[in-house]
Amino acid sequence: MDLAGVTRMTYPPNVRPIQLPCTGSVDPVYIIRALLSGADGVFISGCPPGDCHYVSGNLKFRRRFAVLRAMLEAMGLEPERVKLYWISAAEGKKFAQTMHALTEEIRALGPNPLARQSFT
Ligand code: FES
Repeated sequence: MDLAGVTRMTYPPNVRPIQLPCTGSVDPVYIIRALLSGADGVFISGCPPGDCHYVSGNLKFRRRFAVLRAMLEAMGLEPERVKLYWISAAEGKKFAQTMHALTEEIRALGPNPLARQSFT
């Protein structure tokens, strides 16, 4: 994401980046809260397996992600609204391209049905 910005690559303005030190620190509750708060989709990007600075944070998150997608499906939400990609810090172009593609995929799914219900 930083490299995409520094090299002036664009990604859709409706993307709201939130940086965390490692995907291993992504609590699935953050994702569920984002969806309940109105996000139409959530994209998580982390270092490719074998490249995590914290050794296995990405592998741990990958397991949590599989459970999260099953939970979302049980909640009646399309699991396709939540995506996980391995994009390293050196792949700014891939990040920007992925953001454009994912935005279109999420847009094709339509508005988040959970966002229409008021849980707050
Ligand atoms: S530092 Fe752990 S996924 Fe990047």
